[in-house]
Formats: sequence, structure tokens, C-alpha cells
Amino acid sequence: MDAFDVLVIGGGPAGYVAAIRAAQLGFKTACVDAFERNGKASLGGTCLNVGCIPSKAMLDSSEKFEMITHEADEHGIVVDGARVDLNKMLARKDAVVDKLTGGIQFLFKKNKIKSYHGYGRLVRREGDAWIVDAAGEEVSAKNVIVATGSNPRALPLAPFGGHIVENSGALALTEVPQRLGVIGAGVIGVELGSVWRRLGAQVTVLEALPGFLLPADDAVSKEALKHLKKQGLDFHFSVNVKDVQQSDAGVTVTYEENGQSVTAQFDKLIVSIGRVPNTQGLGAQDVGLTLDERGFVKIDDHYRTNLPGVYAIGDVVGGAMLAHKAEDEGVAVAEIIAGQAGHVNYDAIPWVIYTSPEIAWVGLTEQGAKAQGLEVRTGQFPFAANGRALGHNDSRGFVKVVADAKSDKILGVHMVGPNVSELIAEAVSVMEFGGSAEDLARTVHAHPTLSEAVKEAALAVDKRALHA
Ligand code: FAD
Ligand code: NAI
Repeated sequence: MDAFDVLVIGGGPAGYVAAIRAAQLGFKTACVDAFERNGKASLGGTCLNVGCIPSKAMLDSSEKFEMITHEADEHGIVVDGARVDLNKMLARKDAVVDKLTGGIQFLFKKNKIKSYHGYGRLVRREGDAWIVDAAGEEVSAKNVIVATGSNPRALPLAPFGGHIVENSGALALTEVPQRLGVIGAGVIGVELGSVWRRLGAQVTVLEALPGFLLPADDAVSKEALKHLKKQGLDFHFSVNVKDVQQSDAGVTVTYEENGQSVTAQFDKLIVSIGRVPNTQGLGAQDVGLTLDERGFVKIDDHYRTNLPGVYAIGDVVGGAMLAHKAEDEGVAVAEIIAGQAGHVNYDAIPWVIYTSPEIAWVGLTEQGAKAQGLEVRTGQFPFAANGRALGHNDSRGFVKVVADAKSDKILGVHMVGPNVSELIAEAVSVMEFGGSAEDLARTVHAHPTLSEAVKEAALAVDKRALHA
């Protein structure tokens, strides 16, 4: 029987990173992953195969089409007859996925990580090790890291299948639907809704809550909603989906809105109402692995489960379901197993939503900080006053800095606008070092760059913005 120091169950961002870090630390490491794409093993989990990477590839392609068809003219570029070759667009997306998933295979080889394809199941404890069924083969491991991720939550009224799709299906539609329904105005709803709207679909988004992107700062969600509506996404809030019927032709959704019953007809329906932890095939019940009431694996501050030598990280333990949070937990848990002080700073985890304009934030919102009883000062700077943004022909949105009124420490930074997915990194670094708005305001930023808006927002905290 093969024996390992560390066996990772799940090869997504949490698991593959944990395996690489464990191998770097000198552990004999293996990873067992069940994911299949086109009938073949494909490492990288949800993120690389059917999540972050393919969705960003489609967002980029569709945004280029939008630019060519709607903006090129303003730049003085004449383009006649632009049209979408969807098969080619999907093939490019698949090629990006293949390259990255293949890259993980390469990294496993380079780091001498043994890779098993199939399910990993905890079988029994023997001495100081676990016996794990790794794709049908019993192996032993002193430490097991559970990184089995999450699956899309289904709406009982609208089980996935046919014209009703989750993220994987929504990233592989072979025709642009004329009428696309989306249930859930969360992150997937707005990103994938944007893709298909740009490619020509009429998109209707049905959301149960009265507001939009509720974890975001109020000013950011209001600004983002304004732009997404302007692009033609048709949002309906406070709706109650009552009935979903599927036929060969499409999907009929009946919902209640403002006390009225409404029936809508769609060619395809994306259901994006959150994700649930995946403990399928893990043998959790057989070995007594404790899950919480929502099915997440229960862990302590050091990623330890109730079972000796068994750790858990990533989407399956809950918290922010983000790839970078999962990856950093992968590094931290391997370091903890090695007796080091592995740690993730949960106060400085960035969120990025890749719509147009992009949305990004880190830390506390103004409303969240006040709800905690903190006294805050805020500074906001519009991209409309930023030279580079005007040059780009995209000056939508702003940067907002939330700082503690007494200490000036930055509590949160919130952005909506061009390239804010990249700009947020500066704010994360400053927060990681416990920096103040004054630190950010006194840092020299290159001119002309979008990043000057970050400096100006920090200056605005002290009412010293120079260009607004
Ligand atoms: P997963 O990536 O889900 O990986 C778990 C792996 O374990 C899978 O391969 C699964 O098949 C395997 N597995 C499960 N059970 C077993 C078992 N018993 N034995 C063996 N293998 C098993 N996050 C971002 O940060 N940025 C984004 O832009 C972003 N975009 C997204 C877009 C979409 C459409 C979706 C759906 C998600 C997106 N996410 C994004 C979220 C991100 O994908 C997840 O947070 C991330 O993949 C979690 O990593 P993980 O390793 O915990 O789980
Ligand atoms: P989500 O949690 O972001 O949004 C789900 C939305 O559905 C919520 O607004 C919720 O109120 C609504 N909802 C729930 N039940 C409903 C119902 N019955 N009818 C109508 N609306 C309903 O979940 P989503 O979009 O499925 O994404 C899952 C997770 O994947 C995200 O939370 C995020 O962690 C991750 N993700 C991250 C991305 C990024 O970082 N850019 C991109 C895509 C996904």
C-alpha cells in the first residue's frame, strides 16, 4: 500500500495549492480528484474547469465584441459587419481551460505529487495514519486535507437539466438564447447574464431580495446597478418564483412581483442562487466527520476537523467562496501541518466582480463599519476626473476609501470602474500592513494611471483631493 505524509482530497484551488505547498515543505504528497471534463480527468476543480477561468474568458470575449460594436466608433474606428462566431469563442475559452488545467498536471509532476483520478473516501484510522480509498486503491496518509469544494444549489421548483442550466451549462450554450432568464442576481447571475446580454440575448434577472449585491458598499451596488441596467439587463427585485415549467421550446417561469403574478417565457434559464458544500463520496458519515447544520465541514482556527489528522479548507468549509481564499487556506494548512504559523487574514480578502464596469472591494463597507459602532471618515473620487479613464473612454464609477475617524487606519476600500479588478490589489496590500488613508495619500502614483483615483480617494478622506 502506498503511504503518504499528506493526502489531499480534491484538486481545486484549495486542494492543488495545498498539495504543492506540502510538497515544497518536503512532505510525500498525493492528491485525489474526481473532476472530469469531456470524459477526461481535469485538475483545477470548479474554478479552472467551470468557474473563474472560463467565465472570465467569456467575459473578455464578449466585452471585446461589445467594444467593437458599441464603442469603436467613438474612437474613430469604423468596423462593418462584426458578428459572433460562438463556436470559435467557446473553443478559445476551452483552450484557455485546457492550458491551465494541463499546467496543474505539470506542476504536480514537477513537485513529485502523486495524482489519482477518482473519488477519495476516508475509510478507517490505523495507528497514526488514515486509510483512504483513492480512486479505488487503498493508500495510507498521516495527514488528510479535505478540499472537496462546492456544487451549485438547485431550486427545487427548477431542477437542472434541459433548458435549465447551472454555471457549467451557462458557459457552454451552443447558441445565443433570444430570451435568457436568470434566477439570482448574485455574482454568477450578473457575470454570466452580462456575457449573454453582450452576445445578443435579452436578459431578465429575477432576485428574491429587495437589493442588489448586498455585501457590497451601498454606493457601489447603486452605481453598478445603474450601469448594468443601462446595458439592458432587466432586473426584478423582491420576486417570489412560484412555478417553473419546461417544454421542448423553453422554460416558463411564473413569479410574484409587487403582489402581481407574472409569467415569463425564456429559451434558457440560468439558476444561480448560491452554492452548497460538496461532501459527496467522502465517507464523512462512515468515519464520523462532523459537518455543520448547512453541511459544511466543521473546522477550528487551524483547519482541524473533529478527526485527528484530518483538515479541511476551501469552499467545503464555508466563508467566502472564492478561489484566492481557498488557495491561501491551502498554503496555510500545509504550513500548519509542517509546524509553521500558517495564517490567512480574513479581514483583507478582496472581492472582484468582473462585470462592466468592474466591481471590487476589500474590508468593511461604510454601513458595516458604522453597524459595528465605528466612527468613520470616507473619501470618494470619480473616474470622471481621472485622465487615464477619459483616455480609455471609460470614466464610469469611483473609488471610495473608508477609514477609522480616530486612527485613520483603512477599514475598507470600494471600487466600481475600469480595471478595478487590478486596482484593488494596492488597497489589499495597504490593509495587510495596517496602513492609513494618509499612507495611501502620500504614496506616489504614476501619472496618468487609473491608480491615481485610489490616491485621490485617500486624499478625499481628509478633504484634500486635488482634482475634484
Ligand atoms: P473546487 O474548485 O470546487 O474543487 C473541488 C474539487 O474536489 C473538484 O475537482 C471536485 O470534483 C473534487 N471532489 C469533490 N469531492 C471529491 C471526492 N470525494 N474525491 C475526490 N475529489 C472530489 N472565485 C474567485 O475567486 N474568482 C472568480 O472569478 C470566480 N468565478 C467563479 C465563477 C463561477 C461560474 C463559479 C461557479 C465559481 C467562481 N468562483 C470564483 C468560485 C471558485 O470557483 C471557488 O471558490 C473555488 O473553486 C473553490 O475552490 P475549492 O478547491 O475549495 O473547490
Ligand atoms: P450568490 O450567493 O452570489 O448569489 C445568489 C443570489 O440568488 C442572491 O442574491 C440570493 O438572494 C438569490 N436567491 C437565492 N434564492 C433565490 C430564489 N429562490 N429566487 C431568486 N433569487 C434567489 O451565488 P451565485 O451567484 O450562485 O455564486 C455562488 C458563489 O460563487 C458566489 O457567492 C461567489 O462566492 C462565487 N463566485 C465568485 C465570482 C467572483 O469572485 N467573481 C464569480 C462567480 C461566482
